[in-house]
Amino acid sequence: MKKQINIERLKNTINKSAEIGKIPGNGLRRLALTDEDKAMRDLFLSWMQEANLETRIDDLGNMYGRREGKEDLSPIVIGSHLDTQPNGGRFDGILGVLSALEVIQTLNDYNVETLRPIEIINFTNEEGARFEPPMIASGGLSGNFEKEYIYNLTDQEGNRFEDELTRIGYKGKMKNRIQNIHSYLELHIEQGPILENEAMDIGIVEGIQGMEWMEVKVKGESSHAGSTPMHLRKDALTVSAKMINIIEDLAIEHGVVATVGRLSLEPNATNSVPGEVIFSLDVRHFEDNKRKNVINKMKQKIVEIASYYKLEVEIQCLWEVPAVEFNSNIINLIEETAKSNDYSIQRLPSGAGHDAKYMQDIAPSGMIFVPSVDGKSHIESELTLDKDIEQGANVLYQVTEYLARFEYSIQ
Ligand code: HGY
Ligand code: MN
Ligand code: MN
Repeated sequence: MKKQINIERLKNTINKSAEIGKIPGNGLRRLALTDEDKAMRDLFLSWMQEANLETRIDDLGNMYGRREGKEDLSPIVIGSHLDTQPNGGRFDGILGVLSALEVIQTLNDYNVETLRPIEIINFTNEEGARFEPPMIASGGLSGNFEKEYIYNLTDQEGNRFEDELTRIGYKGKMKNRIQNIHSYLELHIEQGPILENEAMDIGIVEGIQGMEWMEVKVKGESSHAGSTPMHLRKDALTVSAKMINIIEDLAIEHGVVATVGRLSLEPNATNSVPGEVIFSLDVRHFEDNKRKNVINKMKQKIVEIASYYKLEVEIQCLWEVPAVEFNSNIINLIEETAKSNDYSIQRLPSGAGHDAKYMQDIAPSGMIFVPSVDGKSHIESELTLDKDIEQGANVLYQVTEYLARFEYSIQ
């Protein structure tokens, strides 16, 4: 008889977590290293200790809970992130961390003794909504970012990452970083419409598209809104708007996704012509060369438009990650396990970024997706149905238990 997780307990854990950083519309605002993040971390730490896990924190604030196995072999690692977007949902990242806890509780319920240890993990700052770029702590763990770079990141108010990590009491030790991982698994909501449209239960994630974050600074000249004739203006906002429209046209024409999600302007007053605009640009595609080519076209157009209107422009690359493919043996195992439960399955790539992207750099990794209602995410109304939560967590449990009994390394 296949072991099943305890869906009522998991729902209860998710609902309790959704009380922390709650915003109207059933959403969450739990930005990395804020007091809300601390409150969630403190609660998660207590839950891990109640599940008899040996807990530790590393120097990037990543939280670990370890369940010993019969032998001191490299562990199976399962987890995700508890930080959210500014108007985030109750499932993005949270489902993966709390389902990992549920896996431990289920193993305890059945008194399962595994060959390998299992570690559950909460990654710091996956969203990158406060400290850019995202996935910074899994990126640090996998050697993609130096500690100093991470520690000196600042939010929009100028707070440093390291100072905030210290302030909330989650600056642990570098020696606590996990080493020698056997394999990494992450359960996550799809955050898109595919599984729901295809009426599929489980998404078998083949990989994650490559992505690049830039910041564009457009410098014009502020002037009086009333006394400056239109032809004498150097309006940074109207010129930025022309750039953003061209960016959208190029994205549609070439089949990439491009988003201007953040924009600030100075002096930001009703009766002053904007003199300076800074906007973010997030561009993604599954083929790295295509993404780079389209970004070059966008940059060319941005520079052309600035020069036509005699404004200055600076484009800075903030972060770039290539597309990644997950480990084929892990993918096959997730697929076989889902099928053995008679769940309908679909292989698909991930449009969203995840910590698993960086974990694949250091261990055979895989992801399990469950449907998002209306494909919505990064919005308060983000929703995944209880049935899908249960099915996804069952697959996570069964794959974890199988791998934790596995003597060999995964190629
Ligand atoms: O940006 C992303 O795709 C993720 O939600 N951090
Ligand atoms: Mn996420
Ligand atoms: Mn997210």
